Amino acid sequence: MTREEFTLLRDFIYEKTGIYFAETKTYLLESRLTNRLNELGLGSFEDYYYHLKYGADRARGELANLFDVVTTNETSFFRNPPQLDAFKIILQKTYVNGSAPASPIRIWSAACSTGEEAYTLAIMLMEMMELRRINIPFSILATDISTKVLESARKAVFSQYSVRNTDEAIKKKYFTEENNMYKLKETVKKNVKIDFMNLMDDDAYRLYRQMDFIFCRNVLIYFDEKMKKKVVDHMYECLKPKGFLTIGHAESLHNISRAFKPLVFPGTIAYQKG
Ligand SMILES: C[S@@+](CC[C@H](N)C(=O)[O-])C[C@H]1O[C@@H](n2cnc3c(N)ncnc32)[C@H](O)[C@@H]1O
Repeated sequence: MTREEFTLLRDFIYEKTGIYFAETKTYLLESRLTNRLNELGLGSFEDYYYHLKYGADRARGELANLFDVVTTNETSFFRNPPQLDAFKIILQKTYVNGSAPASPIRIWSAACSTGEEAYTLAIMLMEMMELRRINIPFSILATDISTKVLESARKAVFSQYSVRNTDEAIKKKYFTEENNMYKLKETVKKNVKIDFMNLMDDDAYRLYRQMDFIFCRNVLIYFDEKMKKKVVDHMYECLKPKGFLTIGHAESLHNISRAFKPLVFPGTIAYQKG
């Protein structure tokens, strides 16, 4: 990939997804796009750029393939326990010890990848309701830009690796094990709605209003400061007053937003809409 080709594709990818490939990532981008070139029978990365940018209707479908290959989809069930413990503490304080919610709790897993995060939250709520013998109506929306991971999230059949941090009792209760794969039960699946949503798309946020919780973990890391600000500002608007935003444990709102109140929990911070 020449320097010019890298710049053309980097800027195109940034414009469409917000994902910013630094020049040090030229090799990574090249290796991720090589398969696309081969599959389309194109001779150069410049050809691929023109195919994406000016291709006929059919070629526009290539954008979805591009989104699949430029995204990093690492995730797992019960990822980063301190953040999940904080979620549990908030739920407990607000809905178990406090008053029952007037309307179903709305939770959004933005950038959900193959669904483990959203399904983890559903399982946690189901466990809490069973333990406390209460009913907390809730709905979970799970969105991502990659159609490939969304398809997988809808199938909800997971590898051993995906459930490596999941308690045996939870695995037994909510999954059916078959040939070393873990099929999530319908009782959990039915609580999660899975959809395409591009965090770059200002208009798309309209559909994600009045959220009690937004989990936007491990995606801001791929964006530059301008894009991070834009996403976090939108998330602020999407939350109910006093709603919570959780970002990745290695991510920070420092220099990004002062609108949220940081609440300290053991080993983590949750951001509350002030
Ligand atoms: C590393 S995964 C994080 C999954 C999950 N949130 C977690 O923390 O385990 C990052 C996800 O962000 C998605 N993503 C990247 N850019 C996006 C965008 N512009 N809009 C929506 N999703 C995006 C990727 O497709 C990928 O599935």
